[in-house]
Amino acid sequence: MRTELLTVLREAGDYVSGQDLCEKFGVSRTAIWKGINQLKEAGYEIEAVQNKGYKLVSVPDSLSEEELKSIRRTEWVGEEIFYFPVIDSTNTKAKQLAEEGYPGGTLVVAEQQDAGKGRRGRSWESPRGMSIYMTLMLKPEIDPNNASMLTLVAALAVSAAVRKLTGRPAGIKWPNDIVMNGKKICGILTEMSAQFDYVNHIVIGIGINVNNESFPEEIAQMATSLYLETGERYNRAALMEEVWEQFEHYYAAFLKTEDLSGLVKEYNAHLVNMHQIVSVLDPKEPFEGKAMGITPRGELIVDTWESRKLVSAGEVSVRGIYGYV
Ligand code: BTN
Repeated sequence: MRTELLTVLREAGDYVSGQDLCEKFGVSRTAIWKGINQLKEAGYEIEAVQNKGYKLVSVPDSLSEEELKSIRRTEWVGEEIFYFPVIDSTNTKAKQLAEEGYPGGTLVVAEQQDAGKGRRGRSWESPRGMSIYMTLMLKPEIDPNNASMLTLVAALAVSAAVRKLTGRPAGIKWPNDIVMNGKKICGILTEMSAQFDYVNHIVIGIGINVNNESFPEEIAQMATSLYLETGERYNRAALMEEVWEQFEHYYAAFLKTEDLSGLVKEYNAHLVNMHQIVSVLDPKEPFEGKAMGITPRGELIVDTWESRKLVSAGEVSVRGIYGYV
């Protein structure tokens, strides 16, 4: 009932009378009062005024199931939400749920991870209380060869959500790091289970540094948080919600053609590598060139003195030759 109570108060944005709440939920005034008190204990500020009712004044920075469910405005993302105070990795859990038969759109969220995974077998520092760790599980009917483009779709969604919430520029470092002022605020790890012509499931794991005040020395040079860049703290559930609303929008565009043709322009507009000299760390043949944007398949176009090369995500890593980006 706490979730429903919160949803009603949230949607009303104004006072809702105790009587209306009783009728809506078919419960006694005491039951409503108890529910309100539980929400208050969880950190929600709720004003109670005689003859007017209850009004939600402020919400805590909580990722509890009731908070995530009541803030949800998406159409299909998060129809099933699993929240864990601590988990090994939200990606691992999402894969397990896919195998257990949960539908695409299932979301796994954690307050803390003790075996958070990064790209290229690295680990992802996942302290509690200040960041976002979440994974969306999909079961799309697409060609497995097109799945890697979803990671760029997710990057578009996160960068758009961050810009909307903070009002600051948030760029994309190809293929899928989100950066602010040249430092990374978000990493995305996409993993797939597939037959040669059939996708079993895809999990898109997103880690966003939101309210972190500092980073371990080894990564402080290249990692940052929204708080460190803007001086403001952000509500993590609100940011999550915005990311998934944006994702539904960009994902629909991707599904139309099963590639990024409808998104190339927008992606390139936020690509921090655009027209920069990049160093492509191809294990076979490293080279340098000028990044010219992405192709409709999400490859990075790099012009060298001799020729134009297309770089595929996953095969190589790209580094700006001046600084991190
Ligand atoms: C990167 O190396 O840039 C990708 C980092 C991805 C981290 C996120 S946090 C939520 C999800 N669960 C994981 O174990 N990893 C991803």
